[in-house]
Amino acid sequence: MPRWFRSRTARAVACALLFSASQTASAQPEKKPQGNKTESAAEAPAKGVSFIIDVAPVLKENCFACHDAKKKSGKYDMTTYEKIRAGGVNGDPVVPGKPDLSEFHALIVTTEQRRMPPRDKGEAVPKDKAAIVAQWIKEGAKLDAGLDPKADLVKELRVRWKPPVPPKAYPFAIIVNAITFTPDNKHLVVGGHHELTVWDIATGKLATRIYTRAERAYGLAFFPDGKLAVAGGRPGQEGDVRVYDINAKGKSEDGVTILDGVNDKAVLIKHLFDVEDSVLCLAVTPDGKTLAAGGCDRAVRVFDLSEGLDKAKLTQTVENHADWVLGCALSADGKFLLTAGRDKTAKVWDVKGKESVVTFPEHQNIVYGVAVKADGSAGFSVGADKQLRTWKPNGEGKQVKNAGGHGDDVFKIVANPKQPLLATSSADKTVRLWNMDTLAAGKSLAGLTDYVYTVAFSPDGELVAGGSYDGGIAVWKVKDGALVKAFNASPGFATKEPEPKKK
Ligand code: HEC
Repeated sequence: MPRWFRSRTARAVACALLFSASQTASAQPEKKPQGNKTESAAEAPAKGVSFIIDVAPVLKENCFACHDAKKKSGKYDMTTYEKIRAGGVNGDPVVPGKPDLSEFHALIVTTEQRRMPPRDKGEAVPKDKAAIVAQWIKEGAKLDAGLDPKADLVKELRVRWKPPVPPKAYPFAIIVNAITFTPDNKHLVVGGHHELTVWDIATGKLATRIYTRAERAYGLAFFPDGKLAVAGGRPGQEGDVRVYDINAKGKSEDGVTILDGVNDKAVLIKHLFDVEDSVLCLAVTPDGKTLAAGGCDRAVRVFDLSEGLDKAKLTQTVENHADWVLGCALSADGKFLLTAGRDKTAKVWDVKGKESVVTFPEHQNIVYGVAVKADGSAGFSVGADKQLRTWKPNGEGKQVKNAGGHGDDVFKIVANPKQPLLATSSADKTVRLWNMDTLAAGKSLAGLTDYVYTVAFSPDGELVAGGSYDGGIAVWKVKDGALVKAFNASPGFATKEPEPKKK
């Protein structure tokens, strides 16, 4: 089973928190062939072990949880080569050339209680990985030429990490966390696995694939000039916001345009910022002048793009939540920033005044999504309490109204750009429409077969689409709720016909 596939058994985790945990194991830095010989325990690693390529990933995976700059168990910080060799209370645990005499290795392979990781705290390091550490010490415990002994290993590993090229055909369905309509209302951009895919709504056919460094996209927004801003990341490893030209020239494979958004500068036109964990939400004002993005680091970064993308300016880093920021929205004038937090609150930040103006605590459970009326006069939030709530962003945060209807967690809410309508998506497998002013329930839209993580309106306001955990995409007409198209957004994945339900 390929590494990138997150098994269905991981689903409980994914469901408990859809923007799944920082802690979930994910792909390790790719290794040179030498260090990646085999998973078998018996075989000794090849000669010429590289510290940064072969050893550091083992330490990151097995040791950094306790021996990083913050925890320093045993007063031992292992996050730079220099600090590894400096050791903890007992000094340098490495005796170059002699793995058996090195506490650093002995503690990994010992069967005694004082193993590393401690026996009661974690699994033993796999034998083949321990053998890599032994071989490194045997060869002199050297640092790679050109690498600073003071270099932060987590950062070095991240810089070296190369995203995999997505498979031509997926053996399993991807998880859809983000979708957006193209400016012409005719295509849908879908966040896939290390790629964005563009689908023709009329035919349900794949038109373009754009490979990305981010494993997942969580937020997608077009600028007025047609360039696409994408927030995403690799859970627990890195997060970023990048801007792509999805209409750039690429090669064609079986009628599908392939764009390299990792290396091709004509496709990846801007790299706004990097952080240490996923960026989970993104908002851009209709004039394209203000962008806000937030996520697992609890912060929302606000950029001023009024001088153009080239001169993008980070104007503030808003740390207003006590936990992950799961959703964000901007009023059309860029004055108000609404945010949804895992800390069970929705909040409003005055972007110009740089101050917190409202905390909305009514959900009393995880708040997954927020939306705002374009003129900033009403805020909306949804969450794990299954409710849609509206409140005044410019006031004391009092609830004006709430509405139920969804049978399970509500993940996302968006405002229609042309009509006073809202759309929400839920774990109950539906998308719902609501009157923005009264919260009167409109149509409940069926057609998807799993958690609907994301929902979007078309720019002309006439279509609404949902994307789900099992790769499903459905597009409906706003006017009458008629299903326009449904397809699976996992390239090449053969969807099975649903089995008839047994009574
Ligand atoms: C779950 C937490 C945890 C993990 C994971 C862990 N350690 Fe430790 N480590 C400790 C604690 C606690 C101590 C201090 C107590 C002791 O020395 O036994 C310690 C001490 C050490 C020491 C002795 C430092 C000194 O100078 O006294 C070494 C060496 C060490 N660890 C290496 C490792 C290595 C290598 C790994 C990864 C393979 C690792 N540890 C993973 C918790 C951990």
